[in-house]
Amino acid sequence: MSISLDGKVAVVTGAGRGLGRAYAQALAAAGAAVVVNDLDGDAVADTVAAIDEAGAEAVGLTAPVGPTETAERLVEVAVESFGRLDVMVTNAGILRDRVLWKMTDEDFDLVIETHLRGTFTCARAAAVRIREQGEGGRIIVIGSPAGQYGNFGQTNYAAAKAGVVAFARTWSMELARAQITVNAVVPTAWTQMTATIPIYAPLVERVERGEALPAEVRREHAIGMPEDCAELVVFLASERAAGVTGQAIGIGGDRLTLYSHPAELRFALRDGGWSAEEIAEEWERALSADAQPSGLHLPELDLGEAGI
Ligand SMILES: NC(=O)c1ccc[n+]([C@@H]2O[C@H](COP(=O)([O-])OP(=O)(O)OC[C@H]3O[C@@H](n4cnc5c(N)ncnc54)[C@H](O)[C@@H]3O)[C@@H](O)[C@H]2O)c1
Repeated sequence: MSISLDGKVAVVTGAGRGLGRAYAQALAAAGAAVVVNDLDGDAVADTVAAIDEAGAEAVGLTAPVGPTETAERLVEVAVESFGRLDVMVTNAGILRDRVLWKMTDEDFDLVIETHLRGTFTCARAAAVRIREQGEGGRIIVIGSPAGQYGNFGQTNYAAAKAGVVAFARTWSMELARAQITVNAVVPTAWTQMTATIPIYAPLVERVERGEALPAEVRREHAIGMPEDCAELVVFLASERAAGVTGQAIGIGGDRLTLYSHPAELRFALRDGGWSAEEIAEEWERALSADAQPSGLHLPELDLGEAGI
């Protein structure tokens, strides 16, 4: 039997295209009524029309996430249109990549405003409403491998996405009594965001011709199409995931990943504390053996003709 979201009401931000659109369509296909949000009004109308055509229910709200007013309006639209809110998916996002020494305040602030503040304001508005309803619910936030590992050129984005996973850990504690689960999806998919990554340039034409991505890309880089990620959002939104909270779960192509949380790898104790010299000695004697590499490093692929 497939998972049903009949009677549930969901908001998906940034659902005009890419992953958000796939999440909105999959939630609707599973039976949920969906509020489709995006900055881009034409894209909102397209997603709403696609859901209508598929015989499911959706309404649109064109507005930038970040400000509290948008978050509160999204919840109001859900309640006015469908009577309640059960699921908030905070997906809207942008990139403004620059290395640290070239990153402007504007690049930094816009990414933090959209991803971090946008997730905070939308989740807060959803938590207020879902707690009032008293029947539990779901907050699904969207992380990134860049937030899990760090990534070159992504000061603003990596910090925002790491923060989003920290939200999930924190809110899973705060909202447990209200039976609201909070999880971070860490997706990877072929969208306008990934299509601009230089190593994937040889695949652009292939995808435009409608060909599937090579199996190695789907398995080793976890890159497939947005639809490949959407079923994880459906699962997390469902009753089957009632006991899943505070997790960061990766999905992309053929790969489903449960991430670890940061934890102590090793510790040492010294009565009265540590001098710099003693720390240096302990680092060299023991701790350095467990130091982990940081940064996102994808395995090299041998894709023959695709040549990446
Ligand atoms: N594509 C990937 O592989 C990947 C990997 C990790 C994380 N993500 C995350 O998944 C989410 C979706 O990414 P995507 O690849 O589908 O991107 P996308 O650019 O295809 O779609 C993002 C959508 O968000 C909208 N948007 C941007 N700012 C907004 C705002 N302030 N308010 C409302 N809508 C806004 C855009 O108009 C666009 O329609 C993002 O949070 C992104 O960081 C994507």
